[in-house]
Amino acid sequence: MAKINLKLLKNKAKNEIEKAQNLKELNDIFKKYLGKKGEITQILASIKNLTKEKRARVGKEANLLKNFLEKKFSEKTIEIKRKIEKEIEEREWIDITVPGKRPSLGHLHPLSQVKRKTEEIFQSIGFSVIEGPEVETEWYNFDALNIPKDHPARDAWDTFWLRQETGNRKQEARKLLLRTHTSPVQVRYMEKNNPPLRIIVPGRIFRHEATDASHEVNFYQVEGLMVDKKVSVANFKAVIEEFFQRFFERPIAIRIRPSYFPFTEPSFEVDISCSNCRGRGCSVCSKTGWLEMMGAGMVHPNVFKAAGLNPKNWQGFAFGIGLDRLAMMKYKINDIRLFYSGDLRFLNQF
Ligand code: DAH
Repeated sequence: MAKINLKLLKNKAKNEIEKAQNLKELNDIFKKYLGKKGEITQILASIKNLTKEKRARVGKEANLLKNFLEKKFSEKTIEIKRKIEKEIEEREWIDITVPGKRPSLGHLHPLSQVKRKTEEIFQSIGFSVIEGPEVETEWYNFDALNIPKDHPARDAWDTFWLRQETGNRKQEARKLLLRTHTSPVQVRYMEKNNPPLRIIVPGRIFRHEATDASHEVNFYQVEGLMVDKKVSVANFKAVIEEFFQRFFERPIAIRIRPSYFPFTEPSFEVDISCSNCRGRGCSVCSKTGWLEMMGAGMVHPNVFKAAGLNPKNWQGFAFGIGLDRLAMMKYKINDIRLFYSGDLRFLNQF
């Protein structure tokens, strides 16, 4: 009786194990036969009730069956695990021969590139890079730079004034505005640092005006200032020629014309030979062969005084270059607004 049961049991269990589809099913079958209350476990437990001779025989067979099934279970477990692995492999395979997707890398804005290049050149000839505030006082932006009270640049048409509480005279005297040029940093720097000094001041500036291809409400300048006991226009010419040659990476002819700025005396305008036609005359340079690049001059005595320096002891040159203009010349860009458009078709060309 026990013998038949065991044989039936063996075939039944074997069949079920073979049919198991997954580890959960297999585990259930294991419990059914070999678990704590499993059929075979129970048979093994009841052996002690059999007669002595039966006990040895049935016990032996039941144990053989138990070993047999355990082996089957472990084989099936391996089989199912392999199956799962294979499925994962098929589902999650990677074709390592497929060309990669290149992550798109950003890069510096053309104005930042031109700013860095400018800084690099001036630093290599002994100039420090200094910054100043974009929100400026009327004093530093105008008065300290010898710009008279009735100068048109002080008009609301030309300058962004910040709204102030009125009725307080002290506050009135400290009227705030968005700086219209980087020149105020000349005075700020000389107040705190004694000459000899050589600095450039790159920065953002603001003008209250209608935009077109060559005008923006905000753009960038690089101010330059060199002060020592004996600094002449010849020093300025040498420095600025060196700068342009290195910036445009070719020999550049420059020309200095008389001009007027309240904060320099004498003042001049600096032109470079047109990068488009190399001086022959074209539409970019209005057929003159020259391009206006910057304002400059010898620091006015009143500017030294405003900074607390004795003009008798010091001489210096100052200049202001439009960074946007430099970039437009270098890359032949015909509309300043492109720099601020955020248009990737434009930016990706740099
Ligand atoms: N600040 C002038 C402007 O914005 C540019 C300038 C001219 C700067 C002459 C200077 C200078 O330092 O000497 O138009």
